Amino acid sequence: MRISIIGAGHVGLVTGACFADLGNTVLCVDNDLRKIRKLKRNIVPIYEPGLEELIKKNTKKKRLYFSSSIKEAVGKTEVIFIAVGTPALQNGEPDLTGIENVATQIAKNLKNYRLIVEKSTVPVETGEWVKRTIERNNHFKIDFDVASNPEFLREGSAIYDFMHPDRIVIGVESERAKNILLKLYQPIKAPILITDIKSAELIKHASNSFLATKISFINAIAQICEKTGANILKVAEGIGLDKRIGKDFLNAGVGYGGACLPKDLDAFISIADKLGYNFELLKVVKKINEEQKKSIVKKISDSLWIIKGKTIGVLGLTFKPNTDDIRNSVSLEIIAELKKESVSIKAYDPWGMPNAKKIFKDIKLCLNPYEVARNSDCLLFMTEWDEFKNLDFSKIKRIMKQPLIIDGRNMLEPEKLISLGFRYIGVGR
Ligand code: UGA
Repeated sequence: MRISIIGAGHVGLVTGACFADLGNTVLCVDNDLRKIRKLKRNIVPIYEPGLEELIKKNTKKKRLYFSSSIKEAVGKTEVIFIAVGTPALQNGEPDLTGIENVATQIAKNLKNYRLIVEKSTVPVETGEWVKRTIERNNHFKIDFDVASNPEFLREGSAIYDFMHPDRIVIGVESERAKNILLKLYQPIKAPILITDIKSAELIKHASNSFLATKISFINAIAQICEKTGANILKVAEGIGLDKRIGKDFLNAGVGYGGACLPKDLDAFISIADKLGYNFELLKVVKKINEEQKKSIVKKISDSLWIIKGKTIGVLGLTFKPNTDDIRNSVSLEIIAELKKESVSIKAYDPWGMPNAKKIFKDIKLCLNPYEVARNSDCLLFMTEWDEFKNLDFSKIKRIMKQPLIIDGRNMLEPEKLISLGFRYIGVGR
């Protein structure tokens, strides 16, 4: 099939590259000309494992193209995915200006039937608005359909997730749209759920909100573990073995971050408010997440007594491993809190350094974890990168000013560290 993806961000690029790899001809469109120029030279603006190789392979096979023209996309491709960003406004509501602009431009260039598919995470009823916007600007009354096909990719494993999804959700209003999307997804083995457009839109926000709820729930249980001496790892295992609950997303830690869960939760709370439903459960999920972040800062100050003038080493800046994304990373929030206390901060991340350099001018960005540890009073583990699990901790003990480790991800072995002479503080263990 000939398809286009409008918006060459994380979701757009992964979706485009994967659809191309399945044998379709894909045009990825973005209004950022510099990005498009780079992509044409196979320079990928984000780090996502396997993405660069997939883009190279499929551009070489002439199945993947890049352009800045929506007109070209509408002219050449029968299915148009909208994957532009929906950033949060001050009040938590998503800014849908990008979606409206794209819908308008698609409408103005319609000459033949086209299927327009929402891929971006959008509030329920956005499909209605997209349809109305296209109808308003569709001066030649060309036939078209709108569909919703939400994305469930996780950064860091996005290509695997695309090719092996738990489910594919297709929200449609016509048989024609349904059949096109079924044909497109036919090579992927996964349960396919056909719904109306509104239900598909809701599935996405409800899924991310449920995931955030699971994380806040386990973080709340971790607080109880800390007060009683129980071990959160065992408690999570015991809960997760119940198939109705499941073991995934029960890792207690520093709180959830990233470009999706915090934003989508805010959006869903505000959508519910607008619809006249006070979604108190999600408000508390958000509050627990904020408290979890504060509890990490408290652990540092409690264990150092006087925090002013101390040096804190931070390992991990990205919001999770296997990505270079530092947007809404809890690590950055904690660094901002620590800076208020006049501490010196040193930090390192395997992939997050280029992005960190753009925003941090007043902390020392180091070349490796050992440089961070040298003369630090506390070593704070914020992201569970594999590289951090296998460090030479005997060496680290020798070069730190005080042998204190705060493991915000429960990723290290406390017994081993304690036997080496460290003070170890985890989360709920
Ligand atoms: C999330 C969802 O998991 C995807 O299904 C969805 O498609 C995506 O948002 C999106 O809406 O685009 P992502 O933001 O890439 O994916 O990352 P997650 O793996 O969900 O992690 C989010 C945050 O939760 C991270 O900070 C992570 O460290 C934290 N987390 C996750 C925990 O603290 N504990 C856990 O058990 C799991």
